[in-house]
Amino acid sequence: MTSLPARPTTPLPPLAHPDVIGRLTLEQKASLVSGADFWHTQGVPDAGIPSVMVTDGPHGLRKQGEQSDAVGLGGSNPATCFPPAVALASSWDPDAVRRVGAAIADEARAEQIAVVLGPGINIKRSPLCGRNFEYASEDPFVAGVFGAAMVEGIQSRGVGSSLKHFAANNQETDRLRVSADVDERTLREIYLPAFEHVVTTQQPTTVMCSYNKINGTYSSQNPWLLTDLLRGEWGFEGLVVSDWGAVSDPVAAVAAGLDLEMPPSGGQAVIVDAVRDGRLDEAVLDVAADRLLTLLDRTGDALAAQDPALDDEAYARHHDLAREVALGSAVLLENDGTLPLDPSGAGRIGVVGAFASEPRYQGAGSSQVVPTRLDDALTAIRAVAGEDRVDFAPGFRLDGTVDEALADEAVAVARDADAVVAFLGLPGVAESEGYDRTTMSLPDDQLALLEKLVGVNDKVVVVLSNGSAVTVTEWRDGTAAILEGWLLGQAGGSATADLLFGVASPSGRLTETIPHHLEDTPSYLNFPGGDGHVLYGEGLHVGYRYYDTLHVPVAYPFGYGLTYTTFEYGEPSATPAADRGPNSWDVHVTVTNTGDRAGSEVVQVYVHDVAARVPRPAHELRGFRKVSLEPGASADVLVPLDARAFAFWSLRDHRWEVEAGEFVIEVGASSHDVRGRVTVTSDGDGAARHLDATSTIGEWLTDPVGAQVLGAALAAAGEAGGMLAVASDPGADAGWAEMVRQMPIGKVVSFTDAVTRDQVDQLVAAYEAASAAR
Ligand code: BGC
Repeated sequence: MTSLPARPTTPLPPLAHPDVIGRLTLEQKASLVSGADFWHTQGVPDAGIPSVMVTDGPHGLRKQGEQSDAVGLGGSNPATCFPPAVALASSWDPDAVRRVGAAIADEARAEQIAVVLGPGINIKRSPLCGRNFEYASEDPFVAGVFGAAMVEGIQSRGVGSSLKHFAANNQETDRLRVSADVDERTLREIYLPAFEHVVTTQQPTTVMCSYNKINGTYSSQNPWLLTDLLRGEWGFEGLVVSDWGAVSDPVAAVAAGLDLEMPPSGGQAVIVDAVRDGRLDEAVLDVAADRLLTLLDRTGDALAAQDPALDDEAYARHHDLAREVALGSAVLLENDGTLPLDPSGAGRIGVVGAFASEPRYQGAGSSQVVPTRLDDALTAIRAVAGEDRVDFAPGFRLDGTVDEALADEAVAVARDADAVVAFLGLPGVAESEGYDRTTMSLPDDQLALLEKLVGVNDKVVVVLSNGSAVTVTEWRDGTAAILEGWLLGQAGGSATADLLFGVASPSGRLTETIPHHLEDTPSYLNFPGGDGHVLYGEGLHVGYRYYDTLHVPVAYPFGYGLTYTTFEYGEPSATPAADRGPNSWDVHVTVTNTGDRAGSEVVQVYVHDVAARVPRPAHELRGFRKVSLEPGASADVLVPLDARAFAFWSLRDHRWEVEAGEFVIEVGASSHDVRGRVTVTSDGDGAARHLDATSTIGEWLTDPVGAQVLGAALAAAGEAGGMLAVASDPGADAGWAEMVRQMPIGKVVSFTDAVTRDQVDQLVAAYEAASAAR
């Protein structure tokens, strides 16, 4: 990974439109890969090639029309604001995500948009990342499932998607140039698998390269990333578009595999010159221009359909969908029984907190949607519980200005109430694209208010609005319940009311751990780096992989979430699923709703490698399924695991490997709440061991062929085997034997006269012959 080839090693594919490309001039081809303006690709009218529009974004359409401005962040046409990824992914419900994707695509069709710029699936490396609200999880499996469902939904309507930001874009600080310094195995196991999953299962229309560098090379001009990995290994057939302004050197970008620079930066002329003076092979440009034509093919039908503008009824349906998915996304963190509140009771309800009337329902930056409607929780609570039962006081100002009078008024409301619902959270300015947070705490004025509220009322229910984890440890004890609402989109207010009153049961689960303290987070010592570099020093140990491996206590673990009912798990079992290939298993478990309300459970499957030759996290999520059950009902849940569930990325062989040995499959309700285990044994994936003179004696002895060859040589050598024999001699001194086992076999010649270099060469030759004969 450290030394990148100047050019991709993957051969160029054949052109899909050789005739069209053959008719275009060099200038026209260069124009196709250079973009026309902020939101449009370049057309070539003479050749019948149209210009098309692309637009954000991941949780709703942000089509700029009249409102367009230089940086593209001005207003936009109203569109349904669905729950951003932080919430939607917490639903653990791929079907819900697919339906949202299809609805966004329908709005895109009506606006004549060819490509929706989403989903974003970068890993939440630190809770501080200002853009976490746009991303799905700290876990690559969850992020991959989420991304695949969103792409499938969008593309099911013939609209293009853009999988972003490829890759290792995990912070906003210095995002336009920082180098993410990350080792090969961590890239492969944490930062790339979600992209790999979406690319290999969905063929997204486009992949958007990230702004940052990876190990010193800009993603926009990284031949390994954009071509050898993405196309060569994963088989990507779509178009690579730059993030907006991510290209530094247009020629290096096209040479590396970038197909479209957005918005244009004068690259067209530079590319023409480079082809003329031989710095850029015209065949490479032809392939990039050809991919733009393929993009037009793939999105052409949707545009040609000329869908009419959506009517009020269609937008109402989308609002209902936004509400339905919001219901499944909020995560109930605590409940002493106060929730659900009684909708028809007589007790007074004090609603406190500015977010109740001015909801925070999405994050800021390029994903920001102008909603078609906006539900606020206060109105919705009044509608469910009755106008007369509800008193409201904002309690604090959203701009952070301390206002004691507001706080006093809220305390008075709380004192008179039978139960209080306090709407707390992060103000909009706290988290946004473009910069990171520096703290995980709620604002001081809100915490001061909460302390007073719990002082006068012992039934304070906190509803949180935030786009990434906030710390709760310092204040949660005094509360009766906590509902983590994340950012729930334009219908979040009414969905929240339904959850509070039990019209629906919460069923979201955490896709990111909530730690006790910022200092507990795995990237704490390295985030966000400095001097142009951020070291991914925690390696594989991101999120629960870190907390669970090091037994670091957390406030709420990954996968956690309560509801208004309870579930019991039967004994899990695992059956081989050879039809899906070696090392594939079907995990079965029966789950029963043992409470008296309908509810949903997210059955999670983690894999623990019992003995690995490399360090591995304590366990890793490899599958899940959400099931909805009526009271007393049971479901047989099947979670398939394929070989990748057991594999790690080998630095020795630069490939995925499944080792022979035992794996424990854990089935449970969170990364801490394992309800059952089943052990399976793998024969490994038969990877050739490549033993040579640099392999240790221990490696020779654990390899079946190596052990046989070495054993035969020792038997022939008799006494002369001395030092080598010690390693496998049960009677030998244990410390001495272990030291010998750790010695590369070729080094033995330096330590004893009994073994010669020739003998080692003969051993290696015998091993190679025996391996080849198998
Ligand atoms: C963001 C992308 C977005 C693009 C266009 C960039 O600043 O990083 O996510 O799609 O702008 O708005």
